[in-house]
Amino acid sequence: MPELSPSPSRTRGLHIITWGCQMNVYDSARMADVLRPLGYQPVERPEEADMIILNTCHIRERAAEKVFSELGRLRGICEERQANGRRTLLAVAGCVAQAEGEELLARAPYVDLVLGPQTYHRLPEMVAKVARAGGSVIETDFPAETKFDALPDEAAPQTPGNLTAFLTIQEGCDKFCSFCVVPYTRGAETSRPVAAIAAEARRMAASGVREITLLGQNVNAYHGLDDDGVSTVDLAGLAERLRHIPGLERIRYTTSHPRDMTTRLIEAHRDNPALMPFLHLPVQSGSDRVLKAMNRGHTAAQYRELVAELRKARPDLALSSDFIVGHPGETEEDFEATLQLVRDIRFASAFSFKYSPRPGTPAAGQPAQVPEDVKSRRLAVLQALLREQQDTFNASLVGTVQDILITGPGRKAGQLNGRTPYLQPVHFEGTPDLIGQIVQVRITEKLSNSLSAILLKEHPDA
Ligand code: SAH
Ligand code: SF4
Ligand code: F3S
Repeated sequence: MPELSPSPSRTRGLHIITWGCQMNVYDSARMADVLRPLGYQPVERPEEADMIILNTCHIRERAAEKVFSELGRLRGICEERQANGRRTLLAVAGCVAQAEGEELLARAPYVDLVLGPQTYHRLPEMVAKVARAGGSVIETDFPAETKFDALPDEAAPQTPGNLTAFLTIQEGCDKFCSFCVVPYTRGAETSRPVAAIAAEARRMAASGVREITLLGQNVNAYHGLDDDGVSTVDLAGLAERLRHIPGLERIRYTTSHPRDMTTRLIEAHRDNPALMPFLHLPVQSGSDRVLKAMNRGHTAAQYRELVAELRKARPDLALSSDFIVGHPGETEEDFEATLQLVRDIRFASAFSFKYSPRPGTPAAGQPAQVPEDVKSRRLAVLQALLREQQDTFNASLVGTVQDILITGPGRKAGQLNGRTPYLQPVHFEGTPDLIGQIVQVRITEKLSNSLSAILLKEHPDA
């Protein structure tokens, strides 16, 4: 077996496959960071990797089956490398690892490392353990030290050249919605201290990042310790601090829960110019009966009221949401209430899913499961409505002038890509020296999933 202890002089290939939410994307970057001192460098193809990490998601149906089928493919690659005398470490990380770690190792004993989302800072130690003892190592505790405290400062993800970046500020969830695995896979809600976040944001801005998306399963429940170590700062306060970081122009956050949308945060959408006018605020259902069964802790009327307040504070705020159709007990009437809520609110974009039972969650055990064909039909109806609203929203921007953060070259020569404040992709003609700048364009056309535009004026860093 090759030597696996830290020796930065020797480079090894690292291939990370990331499924699931943006928090997994962030975590994958951090895993790459903690492995870098051991000599691991990212490689494009798993065939070139000395270590392969599958960072998994548990939210959808057949999550574990998908993991096993991917592991089967990766095992083949590992065996081929082995035949050529090259050992490959195979690791499973993320929410399936957390929820089903033991079963995973029982069914796929060829996996070397299994680690839950809270233990990534222990990766180097785990790698060393596998190297010393062979066999498999599993870490799915919720350790007393948080991974954020334990990860070295310089390990902040900052791929040079990135203009947009994710920054995890909060993890876990205490809300226990009836359908959701997150409280079981990510543990209790915790917030990172303000100083650590500000330092990471400053490093990102210094490396060229212009737009940061603050991440958390309940990001608007954020309440991190302030520098005095006693008082806490909420998300509105954090965004206010971050907006003064030189170079950082745009701040977004996701995912928010309606219950944690405070007056202060609503007002921040009026008062903080860096906060972008786009908010992902999942409602899941428009029926009070279903919302209650889901344990969401709010009614449809409260959601409507919240949206009205937000729009009063920031009239151009674009809204996005998540929906679940076919939660146990959902009737045709309940579903109609969801459609009505969508018609009333008008969303700029949305994600919608068929309810899928997740083992261990309260909804999975309920007798009144909705038949598959009913769920499919409801989903199709809802998605058609949401699609129509998205098209209407995109079309409403044609003819308007928008500030665009240019994120890179377009697909065609002479084209640039960027995004509007409302998170829509835009492309237009321009020269590559503009990449990284915020410019004004006039939107000329709505395409199926993007907008085209013409460059009006360059106002670099204005
Ligand atoms: N913290 C976020 C959601 C995280 S999960 C929130 O509270 O909104 C992302 C989305 O996946 C959820 O909003 C929900 O719409 C969907 N989802 C979660 N569990 C699901 C399940 N069992 N079946 C179908 N969709 C689910
Ligand atoms: Fe899951 Fe509900 Fe927590 Fe969101 S708020 S992560 S849906 S339990
Ligand atoms: Fe999936 Fe875990 Fe994110 S279950 S959605 S990867 S928190």
